[in-house]
Amino acid sequence: MEENKEKLLEIIAKEIQKCTKCPLYKNRKNPVPGEGNPDSEIIFIGEAPGYHEDVQGRPFVGSAGKLLTELIEMIGLNRKNVFITNVVKCRPPNNRDPLKEEIDACKPYLFKQIEIIKPRIIVTLGRHSTLTILHHMGIKVHGISSVRGQIFKGELLGINITVIPTYHPAAALYNPKLRRVLEEDFMLIKMVLSGEYDKKKRTIRLDDFF
Ligand code: URA
Ligand code: SF4
Repeated sequence: MEENKEKLLEIIAKEIQKCTKCPLYKNRKNPVPGEGNPDSEIIFIGEAPGYHEDVQGRPFVGSAGKLLTELIEMIGLNRKNVFITNVVKCRPPNNRDPLKEEIDACKPYLFKQIEIIKPRIIVTLGRHSTLTILHHMGIKVHGISSVRGQIFKGELLGINITVIPTYHPAAALYNPKLRRVLEEDFMLIKMVLSGEYDKKKRTIRLDDFF
């Protein structure tokens, strides 16, 4: 493991621990910087910590986290070899959606984490992380349903990146039909990770040629 990356991520985590840049610091038990492998090729970005995340200071450890962990394991990965974080690092009261001002105040931490890890793939979970990342790449989208399961290639913070938006796992807890959609999107993530997706595309182009 590149030791430097780990140290740099620790510095960001310490900044988050003492951050008071938005009002969410007032009610937090613990900020949730994120966790995982600093050398990961893939980052999963959620919305904001919920009750259990706030208590434990760790991302995705409640019921949405249980589903995310299952999906990650379904495609042959585990929580230790990926990186998991959120757009907003402190819990909004009663799990309400984060406000635009809170996202704007907090997103520099996320961007620093991305600059340090330099992943090849970013999976955005739900509307807030999808819009935050794609808008920063200059890609204008409005909702999650129209872009989930699609592949966006572009530059983010000087890094060539593939973004794959999908639904937030919490959505599948309320609407079980979405679990199937999440599973399909994760199979796509698996294909992009392994290079199978690009290979298939090349094969199609070659076939078109003959
Ligand atoms: N939902 C999120 O968006 N993030 C978490 O860490 C937990 C639940
Ligand atoms: Fe700071 Fe982000 Fe927490 Fe707001 S949510 S206090 S910006 S770490």
